[in-house]
Formats: sequence, C-alpha cells, structure tokens
Amino acid sequence: MRVAIVGYGRMGHEVEAVVRERGHEVGRIIDPVLDDDGDRAAAVTPASLEGCDVAIEFSLPDAVFANVRCYAQQRVAAVIGTTGWIDQLSEVRKEVEAGGCGMVYGSNFSVGAHVFLRLAARAGALVRDLEEYDLAIHEMHHRGKKDSPSGTALTLAEAILAEVPRKQIVETARLDRPPQPNELHVSSTRGGSIPGTHTVYLDAPADTIEITHRARTRSGFALGAVRAAEWVVDRKGLFSVEQFITELLTAH
Ligand SMILES: NC(=O)c1ccc[n+]([C@@H]2O[C@H](COP(=O)([O-])OP(=O)(O)OC[C@H]3O[C@@H](n4cnc5c(N)ncnc54)[C@H](O)[C@@H]3O)[C@@H](O)[C@H]2O)c1
Repeated sequence: MRVAIVGYGRMGHEVEAVVRERGHEVGRIIDPVLDDDGDRAAAVTPASLEGCDVAIEFSLPDAVFANVRCYAQQRVAAVIGTTGWIDQLSEVRKEVEAGGCGMVYGSNFSVGAHVFLRLAARAGALVRDLEEYDLAIHEMHHRGKKDSPSGTALTLAEAILAEVPRKQIVETARLDRPPQPNELHVSSTRGGSIPGTHTVYLDAPADTIEITHRARTRSGFALGAVRAAEWVVDRKGLFSVEQFITELLTAH
C-alpha cells in the first residue's frame, strides 16, 4: 500500500514507523506545519493524495470533515483516528457514501484495548446477578491529556451497563457522598507520561478481581490503525473500528 500520513504529530510519527515496518510505502506526509516539498505537503488536496491508496489521519477535530471530503472525492480509502468530531458523523457518512471509498473511524485503534473491553464486558456479564460484586472503573493518563474521563473509559462504562442491569448510571464526578447502588463510578488521574491505563474492579467483601489494560507506548494505536488501513483499502463504505476489530478477532 502507498500511504498518506495525515497529521504528523505524536501519532503521525508512530504511524510512519509502523507503515514502514509492515512493508508499506509512505506516499506523502501531510501537515500544515510542513512545506510542500517532494513527499511532504501542507494540506490534503487532490494533488497531495495523488498515487496514495489510503490515508491514515491523526490530526485535529476541525480538520477532519474537509479532509474526509477530499478522500471520498479522490476515492482514497482512509483510517480516521482523530477524536472529537463525532457530532459530524452523519455528514461524514454522506460524503463517504457519495464518493464510494472505504473508511474506518474510531477513538481507540489499540487492538489490545478492544480485547480488554470485551473481557471486561464478559466479566460484568458473569457477575450480573452476584450482588456482592460491586463494579468501578479507574483510568490514568499523561498530564497533557485535555479531557477526562477518557473516551475509552466511557466506552468501557457503557459496555458494563449493557451487561449489568443493576448498574444504570455512569457517574464521572468527584463523589463527596457514597455512590448509589445503581451508579457505576468512573474516576480519573492525570500526571506524568502515562500513555493510558484503564482498570475495571469487580469487588466483593471476600475478594477483588481487577482487569487492567496498560498501554506502554502509542505504537499499539499505530499498529491497529495500519492494520485497519490494510483491511479497508479494498472496501467501500463507512465502518467503525469495532466492526474492523470484530473481524480481526474472529477471522480464525
Ligand atoms: N484513535 C486512537 O486510537 C487515538 C490514539 C491516540 C490519539 N488519538 C487522537 O489523534 C489525534 C492526534 O493526536 P496526537 O497526539 O498525534 O496530536 P498532536 O497534537 O501531536 O498532532 C496533531 C497534528 O495534526 C496536525 N494538523 C492540524 N491540522 C491539520 C490538518 N488540517 N491536516 C493535517 N494535519 C493537521 C497538527 O499540525 C499536528 O502536527 C487527537 O485527536 C487524539 O485524540 C487517537
């Protein structure tokens, strides 16, 4: 595959390394901080996408819609890892369907994180009627992260609510009171360089079960995004990362 790397920040650099490791070609690196020069370009345009089979984008939320329109019109497949634009999903879908390219989007491209989410949901299902087990979620991220709780923690909380009917409300605020039995408390810590740690606790008076996903570096997100690019390059339509991961995990 010939890959356009769109957004050359922390994630763009990780994606570049994985693209090369997996034997693909970096067709162009596109970021407004770069000058148009050979394999570098400042903006996503028909010219900067020329010769590329797929774009892998980790940029900023405001950039996504215009870039998607260009991928769709040029029929370049795309993987969108950028977060914070999901309110524009229906417009993005129209563009992708009108253009006829393939696109995968999602807020977490780490395959390990998705395995963790599925294990945690299964654990919730196992204790759903064992009322001695209460459930709680904690997540930690580096000091530069702008939001809390993380999107992954919220996805995890929703997955547990779906499996444990006695938990009905996700409570993300600091609690100056005991939680209600139907509340699932999600807490966050920010500091240092932690790429992302999520734990779900299933806690009873007699014992505790902890399931943790600990990202070591950002390379896991990049590997998942490059795998998603390999998967979507010959498809048409808009897919969530969950659809891609389900196929990846059940292919055997
Ligand atoms: N889906 C996932 O698995 C996952 C994992 C990590 C980060 N993210 C998300 O990816 C995004 C980028 O994260 P990061 O840590 O690399 O951020 P970053 O700030 O290090 O890099 C973002 C880059 O995008 C560039 N950019 C701005 N406008 C652009 C445009 N119009 N076209 C192309 N590039 C543009 C910026 O100049 C910058 O270099 C964020 O939204 C983050 O939340 C997603």
